[in-house]
Amino acid sequence: MPPVVELVTAPPSDAVALVVALTPGAEGAVLDDLGEARSGDFGVDVAALRATVKRDQLKGNPGEVVALPVGERLLLAAGVGDGGPRDLRRAGAAIARRLKNVESAVLPVARQPKPAALRALVEGLLLGGYRFKITNSPKPETLKRLALLAERPSEDARRALAVGVTTAHATMLARDLAFTPSSTKTPQWLAQQARAVARKAGLQITVRDERQLAAEGFGGVVAVGMGSAHPPRLIELSYTPDDAAPGHVVLVGKGITFDSGGLSLKPNAGMIAMKTDMAAGGAVIATMSALRELGVRVRVTGLVPAAENMPSGSAQRPSDVITHFGGTTVEVLNTDAEGRLVLADALAYADANLAPDVVIDLATLTGAISSGLGKRHAGLFCADDRLRAALTAAADASGEAVWPMPFVEDYRDALESTVADLSNVAVGGRDYKGGAIVAALFLREFTGRRSPSRWAHLDIAGVGRAEADEHEVVKGPTGYGVRLLLHWLAGSADPLRGLRA
Ligand code: BES
Ligand code: ZN
Ligand code: ZN
Repeated sequence: MPPVVELVTAPPSDAVALVVALTPGAEGAVLDDLGEARSGDFGVDVAALRATVKRDQLKGNPGEVVALPVGERLLLAAGVGDGGPRDLRRAGAAIARRLKNVESAVLPVARQPKPAALRALVEGLLLGGYRFKITNSPKPETLKRLALLAERPSEDARRALAVGVTTAHATMLARDLAFTPSSTKTPQWLAQQARAVARKAGLQITVRDERQLAAEGFGGVVAVGMGSAHPPRLIELSYTPDDAAPGHVVLVGKGITFDSGGLSLKPNAGMIAMKTDMAAGGAVIATMSALRELGVRVRVTGLVPAAENMPSGSAQRPSDVITHFGGTTVEVLNTDAEGRLVLADALAYADANLAPDVVIDLATLTGAISSGLGKRHAGLFCADDRLRAALTAAADASGEAVWPMPFVEDYRDALESTVADLSNVAVGGRDYKGGAIVAALFLREFTGRRSPSRWAHLDIAGVGRAEADEHEVVKGPTGYGVRLLLHWLAGSADPLRGLRA
């Protein structure tokens, strides 16, 4: 259980730890008057605290934390940088990591905290302290309560705290799903998790099994899933607000529960991380879980094509030709380029049947995206200026960065096939440069055919997992996408303003 985070207007008497802020000054970190007064009340020798700050050469930057024992209790002095959302998110994460063995802590924030800063702090506290538990561990989490002390919080600040808590919980759900080993996490299991989410979050859910998928023409999902002993599913979650504004958003998330590469088998080192190849699908399920609580005003549908990509006697072969939802045929030259095959069906289905205004797909789609962008930015492919601007603004505010990528028309020829409408990889496969762009060009073929929607594709292969604990992410799956999407969907009364088809 994550700790309860709440706003209090007077210091709780049972707090075992007190956290005070250090800000950057000309000669190192500065403890302000509020921090000094609170430390004194807590029984801290303020001169000793100042000496420690000086000895450790603290600068007041986010991430810096010193701890001083005060009898049985603990004082933490934490750098908060410029006090803006980014720095407070990072400070929150660093504080949470140091509070592991404490039951309850109090953090004085400003008398009237700024809503965006408070939200970021809360998200940092909860996400930086996240740990995946393989089972319902009998040993409960030590940290139970985080009290944020603000004497006169506004209604907006209270709401920002609640939004931050909901956003962080949804992100943790996405992490939990991606951390789960693939031996447990079959497509059917993922669909069961989505059912549980739907029940709790007031969503409608439809799950298509392998028979329905075949009967309705989802040839990509069927082909990718047919090598596995665990058959594929298409999960469709829908959220209809009580007081709906017009407009419909469709979110699509790649849900490959394990990507061995199929018969185009990956080497072992490249396979280990592939239990997280459903990170985007998990992020879509988790985003959907928060919509009602956040009072999102537009209709949202989440589609997660879920399949396990395995080699076997029943697996699809390189050179097979498959027929996607809607009739487009594809020559499969590399079974490891499977994400685009399941996404193609979902995108074509959304286009033909859901009348969307905006379609956003997320996928751990290509290793190539991180060759160029590294592991901090998702690649954002979007030809629509307004949608790109809206998503970039949400990315900047949420702490989940994106960078715009081009649709290079010259590369489209690389997807020509002699036997089908398209091939699934460029001739040359992985050696063809610009692999992330080629993948986006492939997906584009399945969008905007029947309905005039705006479309964005986020390649999250680089950002979907982290190699080490850093700021608000922990080593392993990051839950990337949930914060970005929720910032966009819940950040204004009308996320579709200027974006309706
Ligand atoms: N799931 C992988 C992409 C991936 C790689 C995600 C590394 C996270 C980390 C995807 O299905 C894949 O295998 N893509 C191939 C495409 C190639 C065959 C054109 C790739 O990127 O190598
Ligand atoms: Zn693959
Ligand atoms: Zn994959």
